[in-house]
Amino acid sequence: MDSVHEIAITGQNLPAKYIYTDGINPSQNPSIPLPLLEIPVIDFNRLATPSTGTGEELGRLRSALSSYGCVMVTNHGVASSLMDRVRLVFKQFLALPMEERLKCQKEVDGFDGYGSDMIVTKDVAVVHDFSARLRLITWPEDRRQMKYWPEKPHDFREVLDEYSSKLRVLHDATLKAMARSLNLEDDSTFLKVIREGGTISSRFNFYPPCPTPDRVLGLKPHSDGTVITFVLQDREVEGLQVLKEEQWFRVPIVADALVLNVGDQLEIMSNGEFKSPIHRVVLNPKKERISIATLSFPQEGKQIEPFEGLVSRERPRLYRQVKYNGVTQLGYYQSGKRVTDEVRI
Ligand code: OGA
Ligand code: NI
Repeated sequence: MDSVHEIAITGQNLPAKYIYTDGINPSQNPSIPLPLLEIPVIDFNRLATPSTGTGEELGRLRSALSSYGCVMVTNHGVASSLMDRVRLVFKQFLALPMEERLKCQKEVDGFDGYGSDMIVTKDVAVVHDFSARLRLITWPEDRRQMKYWPEKPHDFREVLDEYSSKLRVLHDATLKAMARSLNLEDDSTFLKVIREGGTISSRFNFYPPCPTPDRVLGLKPHSDGTVITFVLQDREVEGLQVLKEEQWFRVPIVADALVLNVGDQLEIMSNGEFKSPIHRVVLNPKKERISIATLSFPQEGKQIEPFEGLVSRERPRLYRQVKYNGVTQLGYYQSGKRVTDEVRI
């Protein structure tokens, strides 16, 4: 277990299960760097506080999420120092001896805890992600599984508690702004799905340096099975890439901004108005990278379907109803499928 982390530290040769034998960009010339995504930057202040600029910013949000499916959010109310602290406690956790890290180890078939997302299959040709992650439910508080929350560094829990409560406020306000941007009468239309038994988790990702980044991926191409996702990127090391019109683009690092992604569940609920973008994480030959994703999910078994106010003669219903199921969702990820393709009418 924990092979990713230990391989990176000891510099062993990479086992075949991590290697894309065709390369990760077979159709592109690896010596030409990929273009940088001109990702729209949304000023959260201008979305949340009614003012003359509000309508305009909502329009920009809507148009970005309908084309790119992701934006950078600034002025989001999360202090730069808190973002640094959450990065720091994760780095301190990673620096602990393996024995200590393994106290938070996830169960083979569990979601929460520390480990890598092993791909459960008999097919040896399946390629694994070269990354380790620590995932923890943070909201609602009574769903927290404290046995997976690191006790070291000593302030890990306190920092995550503070960070996740800020992110929850941002999450809720963002879902409301998204509903307003579509002119929905009830701005809680999307948020309700989370409030009615849903959860919010933090996923700390660690990507080791990799001497052959053209043949190994930190995270393979996927769209998030969430309602929405916020990604706090590494301060310095790029790695996140988004697929747009069959071309991969690098997501830039914008100091203190958070990346907001539409997830598959919201693509369905918005009847395809918002797009859940396909993205991946590439590795750096010399430098490790970390990121902290905040993910919101519906309750297990929740019926997800296009909101009726977004279905019309001009805009026919695009997706069937589907019961949210975390295990099915993980299975889609592992086999490179997307729920939105599975339920498209
Ligand atoms: C994810 C993800 C991006 C990153 O955790 O689903 O896409 O930059 N992370 O680590
Ligand atoms: Ni993702």
